[in-house]
Amino acid sequence: MRYVIANLKMNFITSKECDEYLIALETAWKKRSQNDDVNLLVCPSTLYLERFSAKLPEGTVLGSQNAFWEDKGSFTGETSPQSLKNIGAGAVLLGHSERRVHLFETDDMVSRKVEAVVLAGLKAVICVGETADERSMNDAASTIVDQVLSALSRVSPDHLEKIIIAYEPRWAIGASVTPTTEEIMQVRIVIRKILAKKYGAESAGKIAILYGGSVKAENMDEVCSDADMDGVLVGRESLDPVELMKIYDMLT
Ligand code: PGA
Repeated sequence: MRYVIANLKMNFITSKECDEYLIALETAWKKRSQNDDVNLLVCPSTLYLERFSAKLPEGTVLGSQNAFWEDKGSFTGETSPQSLKNIGAGAVLLGHSERRVHLFETDDMVSRKVEAVVLAGLKAVICVGETADERSMNDAASTIVDQVLSALSRVSPDHLEKIIIAYEPRWAIGASVTPTTEEIMQVRIVIRKILAKKYGAESAGKIAILYGGSVKAENMDEVCSDADMDGVLVGRESLDPVELMKIYDMLT
């Protein structure tokens, strides 16, 4: 399975903006090159999840941008994975670098969330990636290995088909630069190797590995197809459904 994931972040702040987006997405989605092997996941902010759940085009999947590690109880302001499942979500982004930076999410918190999300029957999209400093000190691989291993530390081999890993170098998010195809391939190999070591090559093969960070239709070959990635996580370009579907079509 391959994936295009639209991370709408906190960009829509009225119901009207959401509805306009959903109408434009429906139109663009109808014009796509049909391919059941490529999934489109759309992740609006928490407040608008139900709205999107009711109005997303058929065949697309609703995703949340976050979830908590408990399903119910006294956890002010948090979102239960089970409640996401109940409103029709199919996936949750976890450990996005913006949450790691602004909300101080740690690897341990991410791993607890991954476990809860997977147990609720949702796909966990685990975001990992190095900072610019780590890259310049040649520490990218070890950072990524630590993040992946920690995030999966509570996941049993039975749940691997629920795991997606998104490699998002922090310095490429919201920027205008991307790693080279070669660099992305290297990271893919590193991740595949540690997954194979942990779960065996066959089971590890069930885990999709995506690229994210300044993805647009124009660089899809470089950051995805040529690097043999299983799809992309898209921020800014996902705000325009026409551009989003151009990206989608490049995977089909
Ligand atoms: P960007 O964001 O495509 O705007 O760089 C990607 C992300 O944060 O997932």
